[in-house]
Amino acid sequence: MVGKAQVQVPAVVAAYDFSRFGTIADIGGGRGHLLQAALEANRSAHGVLFDLPNVIQDAGAVASDRLNLQAGDFFKDALLAADVYTIMEVIHDWPDEESVAIFKAIRKAAKPGATLLVIEQLIPEDKAPHWAKMLDIHMLTLLGGKQRTEEEYGELLRRSGFALERVHPTRSDVSIIEAKAA
Ligand SMILES: C[S@@+](CC[C@H](N)C(=O)[O-])C[C@H]1O[C@@H](n2cnc3c(N)ncnc32)[C@H](O)[C@@H]1O
Repeated sequence: MVGKAQVQVPAVVAAYDFSRFGTIADIGGGRGHLLQAALEANRSAHGVLFDLPNVIQDAGAVASDRLNLQAGDFFKDALLAADVYTIMEVIHDWPDEESVAIFKAIRKAAKPGATLLVIEQLIPEDKAPHWAKMLDIHMLTLLGGKQRTEEEYGELLRRSGFALERVHPTRSDVSIIEAKAA
């Protein structure tokens, strides 16, 4: 995950303006590579890295006065309030019901109007070959997860109390699906 993120993270930070947010929470953020880059792009923001306890234990080196670590399970534990939530290549690990449960956990913590950025490789609507369609098979066989189209993300977000606002392409394979807490 750290290796693939080396290409994706600079592309995400180049494609999205984090400067208007005071608090950035990265859910399932691994060792904090995306959050560190977002905090670098917005030097007045504070960040919260949320992941499972064993992952947070390994991420200790990224903690700072601006980056707090929160160990927990998004299916059981409350998340913190933040102005923007990022969740990169986590939802594709999960079937629809679990994905809605994760989005609802974020919605429960988020104030109305808070922003959610779902960062994923989208499946195009056409029938042409595409890497995301191959990845879809990998996610299904390895984890029971799936890659999704923009429309499918819109529906999961709507069921969870978010409204999809727009999709930002990046120069890497991921897109940024921007939603607002309804
Ligand atoms: C595919 S990795 C993505 C990591 C990072 N966002 C990235 O793109 O490089 C999925 C992440 O979700 C975390 N995760 C899985 N189940 C979780 C749970 N129940 N609660 C919190 N985090 C979880 C994993 O520990 C892992 O860091």
